[in-house]
Amino acid sequence: MKTAITEMFGIEHPIIQGGMHFVGFAEMAAAVSNAGGLGIITGLTQKTPEDLANEIAKCRDMTDKPFGVNITFLPTLNPPDYPAIVKAVIDGGVKVVETAGRNPQEVLPYLKDAGIKVIHKCTSVRHSLKAQDIGCDAVSVDGFECGGHPGEDDVPNMILLPRAADELDIPFVSSGGQADGRSLVASLAMGAQGMNMGTRFIATKEAPVHENVKQAIVAASELDTRLVMRPLRNTERVLTNEAVERLLEKEKALGADLKFEDIINEVAGVYPRIMMDGDMDAGAWSCGMVAGLIYDIPTCKELIDRIMAEADQIINERLAGFMKGTVDA
Ligand SMILES: Cc1cc2nc3c(=O)[nH]c(=O)nc-3n(C[C@H](O)[C@H](O)[C@H](O)COP(=O)(O)O)c2cc1C
Repeated sequence: MKTAITEMFGIEHPIIQGGMHFVGFAEMAAAVSNAGGLGIITGLTQKTPEDLANEIAKCRDMTDKPFGVNITFLPTLNPPDYPAIVKAVIDGGVKVVETAGRNPQEVLPYLKDAGIKVIHKCTSVRHSLKAQDIGCDAVSVDGFECGGHPGEDDVPNMILLPRAADELDIPFVSSGGQADGRSLVASLAMGAQGMNMGTRFIATKEAPVHENVKQAIVAASELDTRLVMRPLRNTERVLTNEAVERLLEKEKALGADLKFEDIINEVAGVYPRIMMDGDMDAGAWSCGMVAGLIYDIPTCKELIDRIMAEADQIINERLAGFMKGTVDA
């Protein structure tokens, strides 16, 4: 399958692994890229820009295929050293950057000058148009179903993707709720040129996280995620657990008076404890509603090959059959 996204990023299949905190290490990105998708290292998971440079070098040793780096702009008082992060990416010869969090205007000229393609992840049509206006090459359109930060508009992908298609000139991929060949074909039908997956890629053999995390995703249904931090306008979709339910009780009790400090124990610094140690009640961690569609833990290659085979079957048999008047059960 060839789309504007496969051509732009030099990849075999139009499937991207979104940046994920404490998941997007070199092992994850290389496994996805070796399977013909676009793997992405999560820049901010590395403690320093030097560590990021080493992680990029490690990934290059593990794959000769293109891979990217995610740079997330956090709403924080002590921002990471973004210029040094950008330098590590450029010096590391990375050809694709996924930006997220807020618009990447201040780093864009450096990335563009280095010949890097930039795909910006956004949760609304207006932010997608802004990304297009400032010169991003592509957009990842992240619907309300997504794991992580869905924004505050709550528009699911069934509406958001065709709306993006109606407004955008640059190519975009669907993001949020994508799991299988059905997701890919539906995304393409709604105007996307590929899809981005987060949660689905955590439940793979190569994902460098504790087995408990993978099992939790397989065990979860589409009813098991919760939205936290809405009162702070920093909404995050997470998998429910003891800490998350405790956090929600605090949100309910404190209402508009809620401050970040009130929930710091449930959200700050919990990722290593969950992803590395498998302490599944340590705090709130991002997970999409798509957990309900995840039943197994394949290798990245098995997953991507299966998605492409399913997409082929749906397009060339199921849908083509309907057009020929064949009624499918
Ligand atoms: C555990 C986890 C951590 C994530 N961390 C980040 C991050 O650091 N930066 C970012 O831009 N997106 C992050 N995301 C969002 C993903 O890149 C992707 O947009 C999202 O997972 C898509 O929704 P899905 O989970 O339904 O596939 C994270 C998602 C998950 C599940």
